[in-house]
Amino acid sequence: MKLAILSRNASLYSTRRLVEAARARGHSVRVLDPLRCYMRIAPGGFAMRYKGRPVAGYDVVIPRIGASITRYATAVLRQFELMGCYTPNPSDAILRARDKLRSHQLLAAQGIGLPTTVFGDNPDDTADLLSLLGPPPHVVKLNEGTQGAGVMLTEKASASRAVVETLRGLYASFLVQEFVAEAGGADLRCFVVGDRVVAAMRRQAAEGEFRSNLHRGGEGFAAEASAEEQAVAVRSAQALGLGVAGVDLIRSARGPLVLEVNSTPGLEGVEGVCGVDVAGAIIDHVSFHKNYINQ
Ligand SMILES: Nc1ncnc2c1ncn2[C@@H]1O[C@H](COP(=O)(O)OP(=O)(O)OP(=O)(O)O)[C@@H](O)[C@H]1O
Ligand SMILES: [Mg+2]
Repeated sequence: MKLAILSRNASLYSTRRLVEAARARGHSVRVLDPLRCYMRIAPGGFAMRYKGRPVAGYDVVIPRIGASITRYATAVLRQFELMGCYTPNPSDAILRARDKLRSHQLLAAQGIGLPTTVFGDNPDDTADLLSLLGPPPHVVKLNEGTQGAGVMLTEKASASRAVVETLRGLYASFLVQEFVAEAGGADLRCFVVGDRVVAAMRRQAAEGEFRSNLHRGGEGFAAEASAEEQAVAVRSAQALGLGVAGVDLIRSARGPLVLEVNSTPGLEGVEGVCGVDVAGAIIDHVSFHKNYINQ
């Protein structure tokens, strides 16, 4: 199998591990920086070049696309798809996952549990919008926040209103959620590959913090996802069309609630903490699917 990994930097842990796992299985693999891929778009004449040479003949492309380059890199990925390449995470699925409003709507439509979420545009509606949510505390999230930045806890209704008004003033897109206190500052990252959870990691927030992100001082531990949690994680990835996903759940009194489905989940934390060969699982998954499609 000839494999391309779309990644800005071949020395990143996740990219290196995917290259290693592919080579160990006898595949040919190359890392392409999506920002150096350029394209010709013509009816029946899709072509791509990289640093002056044609890009052709790849069976599979694995995208590792950072949030800051989503638009250009998903266009590159779409071009690979149009050239007949298999990808576990198609461009449209990545775009669905990157938009919190859209992904929450799609997950809820499948009956997948989420913290109750509201969003709205007009300042005149703020009071009624917040009343749809029930009493505080609330969690206000920037639609494009990541690693816990842009996630705020408001303990009083007046604080929720003030934060919402401030974000509107900055033309930021956001959503507001019920605060799930019984999660106790922990979430569960379920690493989904195909139709199974290959590893799960519990992340616990630092003392005095409700966000469990490792970048916010949270700590990761190997964990066992229950059968229900595994089923919810796999259904969430499938609802967005992702073959590889990091699904973040919180454990609530009414069962697992999905916070986020990450389309480019990092391997370092989960492989280090759980001791699972996640990169190998991803390569096995794509090589199985590529063979399946070619039959
Ligand atoms: N509704 C909620 N109730 C309780 N805790 C929450 C809630 N939403 C988020 N948290 C906590 O805050 C952390 C960060 O929130 P979230 O994962 O939604 O944002 P992010 O990590 O910044 O963005 P993303 O995961 O989309 O990159 C979560 O991991 C969780 O620990
Ligand atoms: Mg998160």
